[in-house]
Amino acid sequence: TVHFLNAKSLQGQHWVVTAGPTVEAIDPVRYLANRSSGKMGYAIAEMASKAGAEVTLVSGPVSLDVPFGVNCFKVESAEAMLRKVQETLRDDSVFVACAAVADYKPKTVATEKMKKSGDEGLTIELSQNPDILKWVAGETSAFCVGFAAETQNVSDYAKSKMERKGITMICANDVSRDDIGFSCDHNELLVFYREQNITKEQRIGPASKVKVAEQLIELIHQVRPS
Ligand code: CTP
Ligand code: CA
Repeated sequence: TVHFLNAKSLQGQHWVVTAGPTVEAIDPVRYLANRSSGKMGYAIAEMASKAGAEVTLVSGPVSLDVPFGVNCFKVESAEAMLRKVQETLRDDSVFVACAAVADYKPKTVATEKMKKSGDEGLTIELSQNPDILKWVAGETSAFCVGFAAETQNVSDYAKSKMERKGITMICANDVSRDDIGFSCDHNELLVFYREQNITKEQRIGPASKVKVAEQLIELIHQVRPS
């Protein structure tokens, strides 16, 4: 099924996209973060906006220009990202969770720069961050699309993640490959989605992240009940 998006395809729709990493402060000069360029999420925001949607991008620190027409909020921590998503999401939004959210954060943040003591190692205690996608799926009626970056058992892990988070669609990314994914301009996704109680799958790419974004948006548009 080939659907072509035009500038009005998503008119009247509100999309919220998370992108990039989150960074979790250890002290004023150090942080914990995930690997993510933000390119995939920015491409989705850009193409959804070009297809007529009102798009809110909630982005961790990345060095990308905000796509024209997209409303962007920059955040640092997972907690700040969750708050901004809660503020901007509507019950009829499409929510695309593309961010590489840090699963853990330091339990306490030192207010002054930590100094080395002799040649001792350092242990930092971590606590779990909130799961933004799980919150949206559980507490709102937004149509949720997740991403699953995996290095092994890609399909199985992605499908079980879709069940666990209670979402309709998940895009699996094999991040063990070096020709696609992280920091590249290209990507290949294996998308799993539920339609009439059946789990279906569709491969998108390999192609530029912009092309992949376009095809993913078409798929969301086709699967989402309107
Ligand atoms: N996600 C999120 N908030 C988190 C963690 C993940 O919104 N605190 C979202 C990601 O943006 C992605 C999806 O959940 O869309 C899956 O993220 P992933 O890290 O693959 O899954 P986790 O549930 O964190 O499981 P794990 O890292 O242990 O594989
Ligand atoms: Ca994770």
